[in-house]
Amino acid sequence: MSEQEIKVPDLGGADEVEIIELLVSAGDSVEEEDPILTIETDKASVELPSPGAGKITKLTVKVGDKVKEGDVVGMMEASGEADESDSSGDSDGSENEPEEKAEDAPKAESKAEDSKPAPKKKSGGSRKETVLVPPLDGMENVPVIEINVSEGDTIEADDALVTVESDKATMEIPSPYGGKVAKILVSEGDKLSEGDKLLELTVVEDGDDEDEDQGEPPADSGEQAKPESKADAAPQKEPATQPQGSTYEPPSPGAKVHAGPAVRKLARELGADMTRIKGSGPKSRILKDDVQTYVKSQLQQSQQGGSVGTGAGIPGVKLPDFSQFGNVEREAMSRMMAVTATNMQRSWLNVPHVTQFEDADITDMEVFRKSQKAAGEKKGVKMTPLPFILKACATALAELPQFNVSLDMERKEVVRKQYIHIGIAVDTPNGLMVPVIRDVDQKGLWELAAESAELAQKARDKQLKPAEMQGACFTITSLGGIGGTAFTPIVNTPEVAILGVSKAAMKPVWDGSDFQPRLMLPLSLSYDHRAVNGADAARFTSLLSQLMGDIRTLLL
Ligand code: COA
Repeated sequence: MSEQEIKVPDLGGADEVEIIELLVSAGDSVEEEDPILTIETDKASVELPSPGAGKITKLTVKVGDKVKEGDVVGMMEASGEADESDSSGDSDGSENEPEEKAEDAPKAESKAEDSKPAPKKKSGGSRKETVLVPPLDGMENVPVIEINVSEGDTIEADDALVTVESDKATMEIPSPYGGKVAKILVSEGDKLSEGDKLLELTVVEDGDDEDEDQGEPPADSGEQAKPESKADAAPQKEPATQPQGSTYEPPSPGAKVHAGPAVRKLARELGADMTRIKGSGPKSRILKDDVQTYVKSQLQQSQQGGSVGTGAGIPGVKLPDFSQFGNVEREAMSRMMAVTATNMQRSWLNVPHVTQFEDADITDMEVFRKSQKAAGEKKGVKMTPLPFILKACATALAELPQFNVSLDMERKEVVRKQYIHIGIAVDTPNGLMVPVIRDVDQKGLWELAAESAELAQKARDKQLKPAEMQGACFTITSLGGIGGTAFTPIVNTPEVAILGVSKAAMKPVWDGSDFQPRLMLPLSLSYDHRAVNGADAARFTSLLSQLMGDIRTLLL
């Protein structure tokens, strides 16, 4: 073991460059070519690779320091058999040149430079590159199991081109350049070895124009990317679009990701979508820490019951940059809105919903209800259609108990409830709340009218206790006081059905010889099709219609 200096390599003409990210700390073990830090000029960023395998003993620079070729940035203790002074980055040693020093590392990183044409210098136009298979860690004839790009795709340097799989490992072969895929030269199942032609790329050269992340051409050495392992020394061009926001960054179309290859590689390994990560580095560059923080937050979100954005492997909804269309403001969701959003999505994603529609003839019910107006005023209680609907639902739940269940899918059990508690959705200025009326089957219409009015008021005054919002077997959501002809409510899981009520309207109803004007109440029953079959749903709504059509039957 011996200690060696880690020096800034040839910077391709740049004088002083700024250190924008430290990728290791003292005590870290590194492999040869692992990136140690990222330096940035006004045109490009480069990761300085480790000159060999070993342990970093000291970093003598910090983020923001300016360095030039030959400056010492740290010390490391080399390990293993490898010649510590060799910085060629060639793990198989076949191209080692003992006289090479650490500062030559980025130039000497290539393992496949013999097997590919060196890219031409940038000139502001475009050039064709044939991407060859890089060294495959000694393997040959490795089958392609997936082609990750299509002809016409615009890709970035380090994007995975194909995935190959040996009996020992699966590896992605990253692109050494950014550009447009002109022609794919391999098919799934093809067996690849180092030097085989993979695809043709049209590489857009940046010259000094604004061609953002399109091309991340390799270092002047003409290096070829290695699968999955070592970081490129490829200069990264800066994106024009700079991310903003917090850890979660809603992506905007065309937004470019600003990160070095090692960070891209980490994100790829962790399956993190870099367009959703906010960069905390200079010019919003995405750092390793940002990727780790993002992945942690995603894990936490899924442990808390599924991600609102991307749960169950479902791709999230990509937001455009709305400010391009006009002024916008952002405000944090209230807790209630966030909880409702999570619950709605959880139910919608987990429950196979079907909605059954029915019209109940409430002409006679309304005559009776209105006749109770004076009595209601005496009692101080307003009799709306809701207590009748509650009572009809309680009767239907008792007659068709398959609606009064919850499913325990883990234990493959049906939980049958011996009680009838019904939730009522209440629209409040703070969002939707669902207080629960207990034992609806055992209560009279006045009691239900008083209790539902009281609970609705409590909900609006934010006075509901948690216990008053728990234990429902079924929910009624009535938009009848507002309007609408039908809707498809979302089941309030773990209940298995919900009744939507729309606005009653006079309709011509055929009585066998004539059309009669009748007051029809639209009902929309959404149900969990795992628990309830369609015939039972039709029975349930028909029964509701019958019960409300002749409220004397509610007494039976
Ligand atoms: N058809 C026609 N009129 C109806 C009706 C219907 N289905 N339901 C109620 N009405 C009438 C009532 O009779 C009352 O009229 P009136 O003042 O002339 O007597 C008026 O509409 C208002 O009734 P409302 O105060 O809303 O009482 P309610 O008992 O019908 O409803 C709540 C109580 C709490 C359910 C209701 O106020 C509410 O918040 N509804 C919205 C629920 C919601 O947002 N659901 C969406 C979930 S996604």
